[in-house]
Amino acid sequence: MKQVFTGISELFTPKERLEQAALAVQDGRFVWVGTESSLPDDYRSWPRTDLGGRGVVPGLVDAHTHLVYGGERLAEYLQRARGENYEAILAAGGGIYATVRATDAASEEELYELARARAHIFLAQGVTTLEIKSGYGLLPEAELKMLRVIRRLGETLPQRIFPTLLAHVVPQGWEREKYVQMFTDELIPEVARTGLAEAVDVFCDQGAFTLEETRAILEAALVHGLRVKLHAEQLAHTGATRLAAELGALSADHLEQATPEDWQALAQSGTVGTVLPGAAVILRKPFPNARAMWDAGVKVVIASDHNPGSSPLFSPWLAMQLTMSLGNLSAEEALLAHSENAALALGRKDLGKIAVGARADFVVVASAHALEALYRWGHLPIHSVFVAGAPAL
Ligand code: NIG
Ligand code: FE
Repeated sequence: MKQVFTGISELFTPKERLEQAALAVQDGRFVWVGTESSLPDDYRSWPRTDLGGRGVVPGLVDAHTHLVYGGERLAEYLQRARGENYEAILAAGGGIYATVRATDAASEEELYELARARAHIFLAQGVTTLEIKSGYGLLPEAELKMLRVIRRLGETLPQRIFPTLLAHVVPQGWEREKYVQMFTDELIPEVARTGLAEAVDVFCDQGAFTLEETRAILEAALVHGLRVKLHAEQLAHTGATRLAAELGALSADHLEQATPEDWQALAQSGTVGTVLPGAAVILRKPFPNARAMWDAGVKVVIASDHNPGSSPLFSPWLAMQLTMSLGNLSAEEALLAHSENAALALGRKDLGKIAVGARADFVVVASAHALEALYRWGHLPIHSVFVAGAPAL
């Protein structure tokens, strides 16, 4: 499978900007990237697709989603809009627990169909890779049910799927210690054995898991050869970011309450810092200081955190726009944070970029200006989306 794409008015790799660019793709990977006038003779005889003078950016990577769930939480959203507090709703057995009940009531088939439809909305906006977490099952069999749905999504969707086991909250009626022990001694080994997840994540926060519980869960994950990630410093400051850095986690996510010392720890360890604009803005929390993190040397990532509670956000472009306006990133930085940097949150260096050897996932913008999709708010100019060099829509 050999193909050349020409007629690209402007291309972001994302780190570099090219004008009048061309791409050569073979067997699903980029084999040549440059200006059309410098396309080597060898490639000139390959089948050619003219993109019509449009802009091109890398396929976006959404490195933090909770895409699989039953039910919705519109009533809670309306309550919160009137001033009720997310933490209090969770403590009273609503919030995440409400989604746990709705997810339990749904069959695997229903959960699959719901998530498939959501994934398509992301694909149409150029998201070619999705991380998807479990975490609305809580009980071992219910977590495995979610992970099976995620595996099926990976087998059937055009997108690349990265599955993560999430320790979300202690189920109602369980002793905390017993639950953490079940997680470390039974669930993690089972998930590692069956290959149902590549990473383990913990919601380390007020109302969820303590720092000590989080350490126990993540250390068990590492023993079983799984990567680790963290929900860190969202509602309260817990020290989770420094734990993530210490354990060599792929990412520390949220960071609303993170301090300059936390940013330093991330910058030094290489653990990326993921900003989730949906959750920050919708829950009316402080917006993470993406500018200061970036300047401190953190690899900043932007993700949707799509979930039915804190972030019913379906738009990677809105996530980037919010981080430009409220986190003070430039448009070019925001794009990098949702593509090449975001792939690092999944341990992947071959995704989210247009470079020789990388997977040929890219987005054709319905404009000669590749960044026009960041300029227009709420009206998305996307022409087409390619995964592994093939049209995905
Ligand atoms: O990333 N913070 C914890 N977990 C999710 C929210 C889940 C929910 O509200 O259902 C998050 O924001
Ligand atoms: Fe989350």
